[in-house]
Amino acid sequence: MQNKGILKTLFFTGITIFLFYTLWIDNIFKKETKEYSIPEKYKEIIRDHKSAIKGRQLFLQNCSGCHSVIYDNVYHSFAYTNEAFQKYRKEYRGLLPRDLYYAVFFKEFEGLKKAFGRIPPDLSTIYLARDEAYLFNFILNPQKVMEGTPMPPIMIGREEEVAKIVAYLRHVALPPEEEEKKRNIMGILMISYFIITGLLIFIKRYRIIKNER
Ligand code: HEC
Repeated sequence: MQNKGILKTLFFTGITIFLFYTLWIDNIFKKETKEYSIPEKYKEIIRDHKSAIKGRQLFLQNCSGCHSVIYDNVYHSFAYTNEAFQKYRKEYRGLLPRDLYYAVFFKEFEGLKKAFGRIPPDLSTIYLARDEAYLFNFILNPQKVMEGTPMPPIMIGREEEVAKIVAYLRHVALPPEEEEKKRNIMGILMISYFIITGLLIFIKRYRIIKNER
């Protein structure tokens, strides 16, 4: 009976350690992907708040013909001359539901699909889905990163501007620095709470069992 208990404890401790290791330290199930790099000076631009503002302008000039950033109220350039769109935008105070947006511009999206084989994605959360170095290299020269992609190479040789665009995409997808700090502290507090409560319950249980013997 004693041995069985030890085996059970070892088994569950093992599973817990394994789970936390894969979640937080190294996901062993993750597929190996190619690593990309960014020169140090462009990394600094990506972290800079002011470049994000410039990046928004660059995005409007270079990318909004095909992409939107709906979370930041940036729509396709064809949208702004459409009356129905302007009306809905006012009605929803700028925060237009995505389905409605796609419904209003069904024809335009069909046109994009015909031209490129697929609808260029909305880029509101692309920063969270792809890593920074990938984005920098992809936007700079899409063919080099994804052979055969229909995205045209419009930013070749414009590294600094690309870095500013990535700064903008980062700014849209991540919470402000203050908020991120607050969330980190909350996370640590929550986990500490669970660990301490767990320990207290364990001690209590141990005492009860001891008294019953
Ligand atoms: C003429 C249309 C067009 C323009 C202009 C354009 N793109 Fe794209 N983009 C596309 C298409 C089409 C795809 C889908 C490519 C695919 O899935 O192979 C795409 C995909 C992307 C992706 C997703 C890559 C991935 O891994 O899924 C990013 C990021 C992106 N574009 C950024 C930009 C940025 C930033 C600009 C402006 C500098 C820009 N694009 C300008 C057509 C365009």
